Amino acid sequence: MRRFIDWAVLLGGIVLGVAACASMGEQESMGAPEKTMPSLYQRLGGRHGIALVVDDFVAILVADDRVSARFTALKPAEVARLKSHAADQVCAATGGPCAYLGRDMKAAHRGMNITDAEWEATVEDLVKALDKNKVPEKDRNELLGLLGPMKPDIVGQ
Ligand code: HEM
Repeated sequence: MRRFIDWAVLLGGIVLGVAACASMGEQESMGAPEKTMPSLYQRLGGRHGIALVVDDFVAILVADDRVSARFTALKPAEVARLKSHAADQVCAATGGPCAYLGRDMKAAHRGMNITDAEWEATVEDLVKALDKNKVPEKDRNELLGLLGPMKPDIVGQ
């Protein structure tokens, strides 16, 4: 008898558990549409928000003695191309609907012999541009985490 009661309790538990899961599924499918987390691209304000950050970033680089010579040497059309390609690159890397059509990072920085110190200065300037555009720390770190792995293709080429 004791055994029978144990089995009955176990079976009852299973039936209740299955019923609870099924009704939870029903609630989900009947309730509001599932909310998905906005992509980093969306949180940065889409292609337009990214372009604003890139504009500030390049202005900060141009004003930074540690790297300015790299950028003041460029013609206006080259600066425009750099900005447009950089914004497309960030857009594509953060989940946006853009295609990056610029050169790969090795080709773009080949022959420049960019140093570690210049890399550090550039990252600092990017952080300043993100701060200026009030990008939250979490989003900033997520973006830096996407760009960081590019360092070996950019420094010392
Ligand atoms: C995460 C770091 C970096 C990223 C994502 C990045 C990205 C880019 C992109 C997308 C381009 C345009 C490529 C093209 O138009 O085909 C570019 C060009 C350029 N980058 Fe970088 N870059 C980075 C770091 C640096 C650093 C540290 C320097 C120097 C201090 C630098 C200097 C330049 C210059 C001068 C150009 C223009 C090259 C040209 O027009 O010939 N970049 N970069």
